[in-house]
Amino acid sequence: MSKKIKTIGILTGGGDCPGLNGVIRAAVKTAEKKYKLNCIGILDGFDGLMKKRTMPLNDRNASGILQRGGTILGTSNRANPFLYPIKKGKKTVLADVSDKAIKHLKDLHIDALMVIGGDGTLSIAYELFKKGVKVVGVPKTIDNDLSATDVTFGFDTAVTTATEAIDKLTTTAESHHRIMVMEVMGRYAGWIALKSGLAGGGDIILIPEIPFDVEKVAEAVLARRSRGKSFSIVVVAEGAREKGKKMVVKRIVKDSTDPIRLGGIGQVIGEKLEKLTGMETRVTVLGHLQRGGIPTSFDRILATRFGSRAVDMIIEGKFGYMAALRTPHIKPVEIRKAVKKLRRVPVNGEDVQVARAIGVSFGD
Ligand code: F6P
Repeated sequence: MSKKIKTIGILTGGGDCPGLNGVIRAAVKTAEKKYKLNCIGILDGFDGLMKKRTMPLNDRNASGILQRGGTILGTSNRANPFLYPIKKGKKTVLADVSDKAIKHLKDLHIDALMVIGGDGTLSIAYELFKKGVKVVGVPKTIDNDLSATDVTFGFDTAVTTATEAIDKLTTTAESHHRIMVMEVMGRYAGWIALKSGLAGGGDIILIPEIPFDVEKVAEAVLARRSRGKSFSIVVVAEGAREKGKKMVVKRIVKDSTDPIRLGGIGQVIGEKLEKLTGMETRVTVLGHLQRGGIPTSFDRILATRFGSRAVDMIIEGKFGYMAALRTPHIKPVEIRKAVKKLRRVPVNGEDVQVARAIGVSFGD
């Protein structure tokens, strides 16, 4: 047991996700009530660490936030102390200012740092750990694409939001006899598309793991019409791609830990489907609605477990590790190994097989 820890710094980095506040709340409560430790919140991810922007965290201000989306600490998916923009003369250059980040932790009397973030943020955390910082990680992402944990918090909320959207699109699709294409997030993994497609009764589900043929998608729509189903719901992951083609990139975000932003495939296939089927088609891009709002009860519980166990890990001296759900337990896993492996949808997994069995087309 590590004796010297008195103060824990907590930081949220990368894109936000429902459940972050639940982690913060549980960590602060566990630190105060179970271990009599103090907590300091670092604002806006690593940017706040570079600028020494913090807020006190205690049982009063970290209370009543379980049901709130976003993060009370703010976040940034750009700031990286190992590649941080600094002024050199008239130019701005990216420099390794990690020593300054470490000095700031010392100045703030932070003995251990809890980093709540995705693979980019956790990779930075791991580099700080290698330089001697007592780091513990908590994984977050709506994409559910981290292999080290059975599931990430935020994913269930995103799937719930996407499912509700499919429900709404279905009634209008049915009334107008249209094809409704709905593009969802998920980066290089098709989890949100697959799970919401299954939960919402999507007719065609297009995911990055199964490249599709748009003619096959059109055939599936027309086959439905010949069976008297005059509308179709196509759920497409932002990372889905046509066979032999690349993913559709919406923009490149400079200085980001992961600069590629996917998006636009929904529009591409919507236009093609309209031509191929002669059916009126509309495209909805769900976008950041999937990241906002009230976390589901599943995500609230998972976030609470992660936050509380991450404090236990600090006390146990499990530095360089992150909390991971290894059902039924939360277990420490090495950040080094965890951030490397993407968890993608197994193309012959049970969900895909069940979907195919009930007539869902993957356009392949
Ligand atoms: O990783 C979470 C995520 O929401 C992805 O699903 C999406 O591709 C990306 O972040 C969007 O990032 P931004 O908020 O920078 O547009």
